[in-house]
Amino acid sequence: MRRVAVLASGRGSNLGALLAAQAEYSSYRVVLVVSNIEGSGALGLARDASVEAVCVPSRGVEREAHERAVVALLASRSIEFVCLAGYMRRLTPTFIDGLERPILNIHPSLLPAFPGMHAQKQALEVGVRWSGATVHFVDAGVDTGPIILQEPVPVAPDDSEETLSLRILDVEHRIYPKALDIVARGAYAILGRTVRLSA
Ligand code: GRF
Repeated sequence: MRRVAVLASGRGSNLGALLAAQAEYSSYRVVLVVSNIEGSGALGLARDASVEAVCVPSRGVEREAHERAVVALLASRSIEFVCLAGYMRRLTPTFIDGLERPILNIHPSLLPAFPGMHAQKQALEVGVRWSGATVHFVDAGVDTGPIILQEPVPVAPDDSEETLSLRILDVEHRIYPKALDIVARGAYAILGRTVRLSA
């Protein structure tokens, strides 16, 4: 059972999905939730699930110092994998190289389309017929790391940002635990920029 930390800044519905799926996937356990926002839904969800929940505030803290503090916390809990779930901070090499552990992220589009903020709004603005969700490894770019799993979601002609986001969120909640299970079982290989999945 791999020890996983989830980093989240907001309501934490993906954290909820990762926690709920632990019953199905015995490959990982979320043992720590870290947020930069005190009072975030994610911290509340973690406490309700009796998972250690720690706030490492970022406001007014120099970026490198904040990242070093989070990395030290993760190392002190022997964390093996990190899942970003609505963590509203771009990670620098201080974090990524300092951690030396795989970091996963969930993004509400079919990457490489619509990276960054407001992916659902970007999709509606250019009129794509399909968007979706992507789980990928994190590198120093914005939503550019190797893709683990993706699933398309149709865009309806009358979709608003809210309705499209909700439909994508359903898929996020399904593929994030699945992707984490694949990574926790080591059922993959990274070849250049691509991730090859094994059984
Ligand atoms: C999700 O749409 C996720 O794809 C994006 O941020 C949102 C977080 O939502 N990275 P939640 O906090 O997990 O509910």
